[in-house]
Amino acid sequence: MQDDKNQVVVITGSAKGIGKSIAVTFAKQGYNPVIVDFNEQAGEETAEEISRKYHVSSFFVKADVSNAEDLINVRNQVIERFSRIDVLIINAGISYLRTIDEISIDEWERVIKINLHGSFYTLKAFYEDFLTNKGKIIFITSGSAITGTGGGAHYASSKAGQHGLMRTVSKELGPKGVNVNAIAPRVIQTEILDHLYPNEESRKELLKKIPINRIGQPEDIANLAVFLASPESSYIHGQIILADGGRTY
Ligand SMILES: NC(=O)c1ccc[n+]([C@@H]2O[C@H](COP(=O)([O-])OP(=O)(O)OC[C@H]3O[C@@H](n4cnc5c(N)ncnc54)[C@H](O)[C@@H]3O)[C@@H](O)[C@H]2O)c1
Repeated sequence: MQDDKNQVVVITGSAKGIGKSIAVTFAKQGYNPVIVDFNEQAGEETAEEISRKYHVSSFFVKADVSNAEDLINVRNQVIERFSRIDVLIINAGISYLRTIDEISIDEWERVIKINLHGSFYTLKAFYEDFLTNKGKIIFITSGSAITGTGGGAHYASSKAGQHGLMRTVSKELGPKGVNVNAIAPRVIQTEILDHLYPNEESRKELLKKIPINRIGQPEDIANLAVFLASPESSYIHGQIILADGGRTY
């Protein structure tokens, strides 16, 4: 799919889960993945594992996406090391399944700060690079923004905010040759899902709602991200693509 073997993909929240799977899948295509996460140990291990197994140049940068300065540091390290960025995947996120009366003001602010402000800080840090070099930007959002389920009001609101951000950026950057889309997963087997659906019973109930009768795997999202980063997908722009086993529509 890819002809230039020096391409660089930056993925936030990629020490584990969907982000890690995206990093591995891009590495298999020959991209150099930059692992960005606030989990230092897992982040270092992921970058080391990817460089060793896939013979690409992966490295880890510690960052909390709710801190704009951290993202500027990520950007500077990426440009210092590779002098380019080709694909940006805005993936880091947290979720809690709670009702509005259970959501504290602190928790509301924390979720919005990481999921929504963090997306903006990430985008802003790399904005100028995309203006000059084009490339692909992919947001990992959530079906929750559409359905209002699968997380608390803070989570669904933050994800709906990401959709607004993605649509605006697609209008701003499309004419500059930057391709921008969102992937909206619903239930993917990661630690977030383990917190949301902790027991067998809740899993069984969940499966009944998914027409293809399986819980999604991180690779389901990663494969779509690789396609959206490829030249073959260039006419898909400003879209929210649900990856949900047919559950929503
Ligand atoms: N798993 C699902 O079912 C599901 C469904 C819909 C959407 N999503 C979205 O997919 C994305 C990835 O989710 P996942 O399931 O892989 O979660 P996960 O918890 O397995 O992994 C999230 C990663 O992000 C990192 N992270 C969290 N907050 C961070 C911060 N402030 N700064 C830097 N790194 C941070 C974590 O350390 C972790 O490595 C999230 O945006 C989530 O909302 C997941």
